[in-house]
Amino acid sequence: MGIEKQIAVLPGDGIGPEVINQSIRVLDTIAKKYHHTFSFQYGLMGADAIDKTGEPLPDKTLELCKSSDAILFGAVGHPKYDQDPNAKIRPEQGLLKLRKELGLFANIRPVTTYSSLFHLSPVKSNLLEHVDIEIFRELTGGIYFGKKEILNDGKSAIDTCTYHVDEISRIAHLAFQRAQQRKRKLTLVDKANVLETSRLWRKTVNEISAAYPDVEVHQMFVDNAAMQLIINPAQFDVILTENMFGDILSDEASVLAGSLGLLPSASIGTGTALFEPIHGSYPQAAGRDIANPSGAILSAAMMLDHFGLHQEATEVRNAVEWTISNSFVTMDIDPINFYFTSTIGELVCDFIMNRVEDAIHKANIQLRKSTII
Ligand code: IPM
Ligand code: MG
Repeated sequence: MGIEKQIAVLPGDGIGPEVINQSIRVLDTIAKKYHHTFSFQYGLMGADAIDKTGEPLPDKTLELCKSSDAILFGAVGHPKYDQDPNAKIRPEQGLLKLRKELGLFANIRPVTTYSSLFHLSPVKSNLLEHVDIEIFRELTGGIYFGKKEILNDGKSAIDTCTYHVDEISRIAHLAFQRAQQRKRKLTLVDKANVLETSRLWRKTVNEISAAYPDVEVHQMFVDNAAMQLIINPAQFDVILTENMFGDILSDEASVLAGSLGLLPSASIGTGTALFEPIHGSYPQAAGRDIANPSGAILSAAMMLDHFGLHQEATEVRNAVEWTISNSFVTMDIDPINFYFTSTIGELVCDFIMNRVEDAIHKANIQLRKSTII
């Protein structure tokens, strides 16, 4: 029996719409193969929404997200805002508001490595074997959402980092439960030698660890963790950390995979869950059909897992892996023999529909015709 789900689609800015189109194509293919019904409704978000409505997250989009079963999100950001420190309205505010309004307190970022891409990472190949990390980043607290102030006629500025024990324990439980399904190792990353909030994290996680005796707990200062991720990334299984440390470490960890374009994420909590690639809007590539859609497609796989459709999710992941191991990759991975965004999407769908075993006509693919003879 198939299931029915309503998905809010927020393509956002830059390459967001192009990569999201490929996720939708893959979800449509899964729906067809497994007799599910996925319906997609579009909402404005980011710089695109500011241009059209004056708001980075219009109420209409928020309402759509609240009434949907899941959200598929592309990227936000535009250079015209990055270069203006005085801009009052910014595309990123839309994403932060959406996370907060929906109570999406846990951001899960898996870091998977592919042996055929080891050469792309600045980290030596022998260190990349067996790297498989899941970062649990707290997403609705800390310095991102603490009290902010500008004082002294703009000569002083304050950002406050605040955490309540309940904000720590709800994500800690999720991270421990995930560790139980994986290699049963959890590393809490903090700065407990300096910060009160970090000491609260450590105390809370230590207390909670008693309920998960099968999980080995490690504590690591964030500066050391930044180094360990490069010198010995295979030591990590689940990393649990606060909002800003998680933001920074997840970008750092993405270099282990070979390209930022490969990494998906899920944000879950009390409201509708949101799925997005971790990359940004990459404005230089917008509209050129060259962006890597894998992070967005793998985010759709995380959405399928969230719906309880594990076989379907595995199939999507296998399809993406198949493209990578057969060198069907975008320009970020192979600047010479690269394939287009839309071709990768088509190949993933072909693999899911078992249309690839016999013959793949590379010349046709390059011409963006059919992917099969
Ligand atoms: C991310 C991004 C966002 C963040 C920005 C766009 C606000 O960097 O999702 O990691 O800092 O959380
Ligand atoms: Mg980030």
